[in-house]
Amino acid sequence: MSINPIEYRNGACRMIDQRRLPSEEVWLEYRDYQGVAEAIRSMVVRGAPAIGVAAAYGAALGARDIEAADFAGFMQELERVCAVLAATRPTAVNLFWALERIKTRAVQLTGKALGEIKAALLHEAQVMAIEDEAINRAMGRHGAALLSDGARVLTHCNAGALATAGYGTALGVIRAAVESGKQVSVLADETRPFLQGSRLTAWELHRDNIPVTLICDNMAGTLMRQGAVDCVIVGADRIAANGDVANKIGTYSVAVLAREHGLPFYVAAPLSTIDLSLNHGDQIPIEERSPQEITHCGNVRLAPEGIQVRNPAFDVTPARLVTAIITERGVVQGDYLNGLAALFNRTD
Ligand code: MRU
Repeated sequence: MSINPIEYRNGACRMIDQRRLPSEEVWLEYRDYQGVAEAIRSMVVRGAPAIGVAAAYGAALGARDIEAADFAGFMQELERVCAVLAATRPTAVNLFWALERIKTRAVQLTGKALGEIKAALLHEAQVMAIEDEAINRAMGRHGAALLSDGARVLTHCNAGALATAGYGTALGVIRAAVESGKQVSVLADETRPFLQGSRLTAWELHRDNIPVTLICDNMAGTLMRQGAVDCVIVGADRIAANGDVANKIGTYSVAVLAREHGLPFYVAAPLSTIDLSLNHGDQIPIEERSPQEITHCGNVRLAPEGIQVRNPAFDVTPARLVTAIITERGVVQGDYLNGLAALFNRTD
């Protein structure tokens, strides 16, 4: 049932324009890597795993159009294409992970005809999209066990099908619980300023007939205090080796509230979101976006002209506030430093 927001068809990467949801369902077509880079930057596509898959398609489209005399020239150009895609958004590590995977695949094919390499890179991007949905379904199966029948789950931002190649991470856990026969309802934070909760999470859950109630971000605390929330599940844009979690701005506040009210705070994310090269969350680059997202709603001005604005798009939740991290290889709790590293050493 859940939507697949990115697809490859007839030489083009097609994406649903997430800026226009829920009012309009418009699909945009990108035929070159510059277009895909702009789609990521302007948030036609957003959400860490979806950004990764889009970047892989972008790199494959860029590779297809390279005119080089030999492999060395091809790789030089591919590096340039990947650098343009990498410069679009800084926080979600899936973007860099995906570009590395495409470049590594190219290197594995050293000595092959360039035409063959180009076809293999497109194939790799398609495999990454298919794998992403399968990973989310596996994550869902692991995470669903944490939700009791009747659970009322609060989520922040959109970590759903729209934020991935399909099914979703946090919303994948909810979908899997529902598929296993549990009654689960969702409280969706609207997620100021870009409104991924009201525009996207509410849209996709409502479309899939999963009970969802939209709330403003500043209502989470009072609803927890009234006993209307059983647990929190969010996604992640990057998780450091010690389990610190970067996710949409406002996630940290929700985690603090969950701790105050004794509620479990779960993070669902694939291994491609875990960055073992960073010791802790303060090393995660946090994107600062345009003041316009705060001062305006569409074309309507909400704040005085000339006002100073801060707009960090993400925050870091310290690992001590995270009850468990749900991945496609199982659930990690407590000792994140060893637990997360161990996931990478497993072969299943
Ligand atoms: O700025 P966005 O919309 O790309 O931010 C998205 C989030 O913060 C999501 O929660 C995160 O990427 C997890 S998506 C499975």
